[in-house]
Amino acid sequence: MEEVKHYPVLWREVLNYFKDLKGKYIVDATLGGGGHSYLILKNFPDKTVIGIDKDQFAIEKASERLKEFKDRFIPVKSSFKDVDNVLDSLGIDKVSGFLFDLGVSMFQLKTERGFSFQRDEFLDMRMDKSQHLRAYDVVNTYPKPMLEKILKEYGEEKFYKKIASAIVEARKKKKIETTKELADIVYRVYPPSLRRGRIHPATKTFQAIRIEVNNELEEIKKGISKAIDRLEKGGIIQVISFHSLEDRIVKNIFKEGKKLKKLEILTKKPITPGKEELKENPPSRSAKLRVARKL
Ligand SMILES: C[S@@+](CC[C@H](N)C(=O)[O-])C[C@H]1O[C@@H](n2cnc3c(N)ncnc32)[C@H](O)[C@@H]1O
Repeated sequence: MEEVKHYPVLWREVLNYFKDLKGKYIVDATLGGGGHSYLILKNFPDKTVIGIDKDQFAIEKASERLKEFKDRFIPVKSSFKDVDNVLDSLGIDKVSGFLFDLGVSMFQLKTERGFSFQRDEFLDMRMDKSQHLRAYDVVNTYPKPMLEKILKEYGEEKFYKKIASAIVEARKKKKIETTKELADIVYRVYPPSLRRGRIHPATKTFQAIRIEVNNELEEIKKGISKAIDRLEKGGIIQVISFHSLEDRIVKNIFKEGKKLKKLEILTKKPITPGKEELKENPPSRSAKLRVARKL
């Protein structure tokens, strides 16, 4: 199998599950840098990939990277929640494979988009730059109960009340503008004994706000449900998630599909990266892959 320099998460497993597909089309619903799409196109010469991303920069970057595949690669800027419209507009009814590799890309993390508290950047966090709501708006305008709800539900953050209060206090004095300002506010709320763990105290807060800004959980529910409807008989859907909220949604939709006799679940337990992958790509450590076949 063709190898690449930057390894997309669980790429061996993803290729393996797609290897016996009969039809022509595979949808990469989260194109990102095009890592998975590249490997699919390279290894399966009879396939055409429809690459969807809501981030225009991802579409441009991946299109450049995948130009050698000419019309076997079809990029579409859209949210995957509208995958039915995307396929309709291309005149395609059913496809043989779907891949969702959820979350943000390395590229988004590294290009001053306000996702990362490792550097000091404007609080943006939009995957789609054409939408209005930014992390800045959430942090500076949402009422305290809404902040609490987001931190609790989307961040599963134990200190949600204290953090929401600290945000509201801080913004009375001055608008919270940067990732570092927000990370510092959260850091100060955390008990000193918990500040020095492997995970930065702001991790859950950033996850929660990112989910709110990009309406992530709703879009995942819609996108995966629609994808299952558009899979042909024998088609394969693969979803890689990075935290428990995402994984729970995937698990439940697959379970429901099984109950309705629409799906056969191929992964009793989610697949996680093996030793070799953890060595070549440490950020893959929280990835979980679930796979199902359309009946
Ligand atoms: C983890 S990256 C994918 C990386 C890709 N598999 C690769 O190998 O390069 C996730 C991508 O999904 C996109 N994304 C997240 N939610 C989306 C949604 N609802 N609709 C479309 N794209 C989305 C993000 O913009 C990001 O580029």
